[in-house]
Amino acid sequence: MRTDTAPRPTLLSDYTPYNFSLDSVTLDFDLRVEATQVTTTLSVSRKAGGPMRLNGEGITLKSVSIDGQILARKDYQLTQTELVLDNVPDNCVIEIITQCNPSQNATLMGLYVSGGRFCTQCEAEGFRRITYYPDRPDVLSVFTVKITADKSKFPYLLANGNMTDNGEAPGGRHFAVWEDPFPKPCYLFALVAGDFDILEDSFTTMSGRDIPLTIYVDRGDAPRADYAMDALKRSMRWDETAFGREYDLDRFMIVAVRDFNFGAMENKGLNIFNSSLLLADGPSATDMNFERIESVVAHEYFHNWTGNRITCRDWFQLCLKEGFTVFRDQEFSADQRGAAVQRIKDVRALRARQFAEDAGPLAHPVRPSQYEKIDNFYTATIYEKGAELIRMLKTLLGADDFRKGCDYYFETLDGTAATVEQFIESFEAATDRDLSQFMLWYEQAGTPVLDVKRDSSSVTFTQSLRATPGQKTKRPMPMPIKWQVIGKDGPVSDPQMTVLNGASITVDLPNDRPDTTLSVLQDFSSPVRINSRNETGDYLRLMGGDPNSFNRWDAGQTLATKLLSTLTGAIESGRMPRVDTALRDYVSALRATLLSPDFDNNFKALTLSSPSVMTILQTRKASDPTAAALAVDWLHRAIGDRLRGDLLPLYNDLQDSGPFSPDAAAAGRRALKNASLALMGASFHPQAAPLALEQFNDATNMTDELSALVTLSQLGGRRVDQSLSRFYEKWEHNPLVIDKWFAVQAMRKLPGGIHDLSDLTEHSAYDRRNPNRVRALVGNFAMSNPHMFHNIDGTGYDFFTAQILDMDSRNPQVAARLAGAYEIWPKLDKARQALIQDQLRAIMAAGPSQNLSEIAGKILG
Ligand code: ARG
Ligand code: ZN
Repeated sequence: MRTDTAPRPTLLSDYTPYNFSLDSVTLDFDLRVEATQVTTTLSVSRKAGGPMRLNGEGITLKSVSIDGQILARKDYQLTQTELVLDNVPDNCVIEIITQCNPSQNATLMGLYVSGGRFCTQCEAEGFRRITYYPDRPDVLSVFTVKITADKSKFPYLLANGNMTDNGEAPGGRHFAVWEDPFPKPCYLFALVAGDFDILEDSFTTMSGRDIPLTIYVDRGDAPRADYAMDALKRSMRWDETAFGREYDLDRFMIVAVRDFNFGAMENKGLNIFNSSLLLADGPSATDMNFERIESVVAHEYFHNWTGNRITCRDWFQLCLKEGFTVFRDQEFSADQRGAAVQRIKDVRALRARQFAEDAGPLAHPVRPSQYEKIDNFYTATIYEKGAELIRMLKTLLGADDFRKGCDYYFETLDGTAATVEQFIESFEAATDRDLSQFMLWYEQAGTPVLDVKRDSSSVTFTQSLRATPGQKTKRPMPMPIKWQVIGKDGPVSDPQMTVLNGASITVDLPNDRPDTTLSVLQDFSSPVRINSRNETGDYLRLMGGDPNSFNRWDAGQTLATKLLSTLTGAIESGRMPRVDTALRDYVSALRATLLSPDFDNNFKALTLSSPSVMTILQTRKASDPTAAALAVDWLHRAIGDRLRGDLLPLYNDLQDSGPFSPDAAAAGRRALKNASLALMGASFHPQAAPLALEQFNDATNMTDELSALVTLSQLGGRRVDQSLSRFYEKWEHNPLVIDKWFAVQAMRKLPGGIHDLSDLTEHSAYDRRNPNRVRALVGNFAMSNPHMFHNIDGTGYDFFTAQILDMDSRNPQVAARLAGAYEIWPKLDKARQALIQDQLRAIMAAGPSQNLSEIAGKILG
């Protein structure tokens, strides 16, 4: 049964402050798996007229009293989503008693049970599933939390802040009291109760305070939290040096849980993590896992200032904390692992996910002006494009003025719930600049196109932005453009910086030499698409000699994308792809990069990795995605063939010796080694299968083991099933690795087609209530198995829709997120467009949740 009401969008323009302030909040939890009772005591004072409206969903109201007087039923109104109290005195104490059932809470929002433990997720609107409350980010209060639970089953009782009391309670129970002195909105509330292994450490802050750090994990998993702990300490130090931000509470805790709707959550002093983003060791985690853990641990920690100390006035301002915090974690990772490689990875992700979003039916501004379900707005646009805007701000202002603006923001707005305008005004106030035009970046959806046109002595940059849903006309935005002139023997100018404020600008070239190439948008200085008149020869030159590593990599991507687009066209019209000059030249340039002593292994591996099917589809109209996937396969094979003599020696040279290290240098060596193995596999090198098998059997780290398994699974044959079974038996007891086992199969061309996939959903290890497992199988299938998902017989779509609807009956947030995979349909051929539209109509007709209906409805248009 649905408790949510008919879609009524929330509008930014409707914002009004809350009419009460909460001077303090006390929550008393009597934790029981099936019936938890929560006694909420609010000490309130009135700020404006009107009734007191409190949100509540999926909970049972037991009683309400004001100043000790129990209210009669006629004194309040109660609906499925609200408790409305009329006649609240100007200053009073309100006590509300509610009950909920954590064991049956499959939404994983509010208070739920995961692996026999209690935990919470409140952002964005989960607190209303715990008690009746003004569940909005601009109502801040200090919280005192008392937790009582069975002592043997739940030895640890945790909440935000500092523990001020604990002791025994009758009936084999015990209690703990936690106080958080920092006023916070309820979305930052957290509670955890259960049995854990703990990992302890400490950190001395810049002012000399000693902070105990504790990570709580499953029994037996403590050693797998070492890397997260190390990343946490590095993050704490980095925030002090890079932003002058010191930790504030007396202790810091992180808890890992296995059932979690997304990555992690920055609850004040008590971060809660999806275990997939916390637990790692060499044998069971890939280098990508380590990298993600480092960045997410940093991200959640950095939220303590950008999100918690200064929070958001309303959810339209989500980018204020998310965009800024992603920017901060990207800068941290760049310092830890190398700026160029980090920038390449961040831009690659931005283009794959955010550019696709911006070009499709779900396009929305970094600060949207309306939503139906805020959960649906935790998007690549708000996070990743939001981070790009902060980066541009830094580029426009320079590092020193950027830091001044940040300091001003932290000083003047600490303890408040702020807006994007206030953020931008901080930079204006601190640097005396006018940034009013910059606000357009927050308001206009879509990816601008930067057109570059040069003659012998000047270059003209022109920006344009196409209409997006709900936004017909667009205005020019301030665009920092880093560029440089490159000749045949290297750069012939210094790097230049032009800021394009209007529609168009013409600037003189520093040298008017013939035969030069422009390297434009170095370091990807603005989040735009380039329309350049550079030709193959120019890109080859940039690939060989652009001093800007990002653009050197990007030149290769541009060439590969062009090749893949042509190949896709050929395959679509039934022609055999051919090796031509462009391909030969491209592979020669790849080879030169691979053999150069000047570039590191991470960079080389990134240069070898080709653009995705998604990227190809973005460059084409009405395309067959299976043709694009064949084009990618064909290109890999052609590259492997042409590098045949180089790959094996490269692979052998890069063999690891000595103990495992997750650091960037070691990871780069593995990345390049496994990229060469994959290319040998793609081109059916006679050594590919034996090497992959040997690597699979002997691997001492998951990067090598999984890469070998993927190469084997692409080579096909009997050894695939044998390896998969072996892998399963070896890792049966590690759920994070079993997720990988499902993922590998979800991404391969299964011999029995869609039936094999259905069979996997019946496997004893498959758990349709666990989001990680569902994303591993169903999510990867839709995003990374174009051959099967886009099968023209429609069976891939049928399977996917059934899985979405099944998920929607329990967990609407995760269902809506999965459905986003259908946003690609306008880029596909007519037949598939029709098939997907039918699927979306079927979803809409099935009585979906409000989350799913918003996404499916918008995609359908
Ligand atoms: N604030 C969390 C972060 O660190 C994510 C919360 C996601 N919430 C949601 N409803 N999707 O990014
Ligand atoms: Zn965040």
